[in-house]
Amino acid sequence: MSEETTSVHYINYLQLDKVLDAQHLISDIKGKAAHEEMLFIIIHQTYELWFKQILHEIQSVMDLFETDKIDESSVGVVVRRMDRVNKIMTTLVGQLDILETMTSLDFLDFRDHLSPASGFQSHQFRKLEVMLGLKIKKRHQLGGCPYHSQFEGEKKEEILNLEESDSLLALAEKWLERIPFLNMEEFDFSKKYEEAVNEMLEKEIAGIKSANLTEQDKALRIRMIDENRKYFERVLDEKEHNKAMQEGETALSYKATMSALLINLYRDEPILHLPYQLLRSLVEMDHKIAAWRFRHVQMVEKMLGQKIGTGGSSGQGYLKQTVDKHKLFTDLANISTLMISRSYLPELPKNIKDTLGFNYKK
Ligand code: HEM
Repeated sequence: MSEETTSVHYINYLQLDKVLDAQHLISDIKGKAAHEEMLFIIIHQTYELWFKQILHEIQSVMDLFETDKIDESSVGVVVRRMDRVNKIMTTLVGQLDILETMTSLDFLDFRDHLSPASGFQSHQFRKLEVMLGLKIKKRHQLGGCPYHSQFEGEKKEEILNLEESDSLLALAEKWLERIPFLNMEEFDFSKKYEEAVNEMLEKEIAGIKSANLTEQDKALRIRMIDENRKYFERVLDEKEHNKAMQEGETALSYKATMSALLINLYRDEPILHLPYQLLRSLVEMDHKIAAWRFRHVQMVEKMLGQKIGTGGSSGQGYLKQTVDKHKLFTDLANISTLMISRSYLPELPKNIKDTLGFNYKK
């Protein structure tokens, strides 16, 4: 062992003197230490440490996405890192249980000293949101001030730069658009898929016609299937898709949507396992962040009821709005609407199946 290795000591390596000396109760400074404030500080610090780790992982994933070609091994790395982010998110949701051992009355022992400090001012949380794709236009507006008015100097500049940069959402979309599977020779995916959808719907209509139902019931059910058909047609028609994008009904480009659909439908092909897991991990992360937002609102409701927040928002009213509105990967989640069962799935020609074997590197 080298001298350098032997000189590393647990306390120094982890800089525990700094970390463990960073809990100063404001209630103590003000003259009457509130027992519960220690938990309040430690839980927030723990969150910030985990945010740091999540940012570290997301930045590395974005760097990988930024390269023009992502080979299979990079997709594997992305999937593993996203899995780690999602595991951390599970812990972050769970940690609120610990904070809830503090009651509303306990909180009031020191809450007055906190104003105007608030989770609102978490720079790392805002960075994460913007890096993932929550740009200012999509945010739930709060009063007249933009969310970044909470920051100054370098911190504000960093947020403004991120607002202008590609987000993970945008990079994932570009990656989907680049995937070279959509127009495989002899196999026009969208045409084959459309035929399969029509076959499935025709079979459903035939089933209704031969069922033991009144003519009125049959007509109603057939009308519902026709509505379903229109939905599929709208998604498959590039012009209609672009129109839906302009109207804000969908954010993912036509090409990226078709790629995501193909990956979801043919995920049993070895080469598509990892891309499929990647898409799933993005949706999973979105859901976990939404779950955190929801649990945080529930906790705020127990802690504050209808009181306004120390950061100046309406409190739970504002936070509730963000649960759904701030989801980012909804279009990927909605691919499930377009799924058809394996029995209708167009058979891939053998040469294409072989190409999808294990290598798509050019
Ligand atoms: C007693 C515990 C807590 C209460 C009563 C509480 C309350 C609130 C309220 C009312 C807001 C809205 C902004 C405002 O007007 O202040 C808020 C936002 C926020 N809080 Fe908490 N919070 C608590 C614990 C936590 C913890 C442990 C975290 C972990 C980091 C956290 C992170 C955040 C974040 C990131 C926001 C901004 C959310 C957004 O704008 O979408 N909070 N909190």
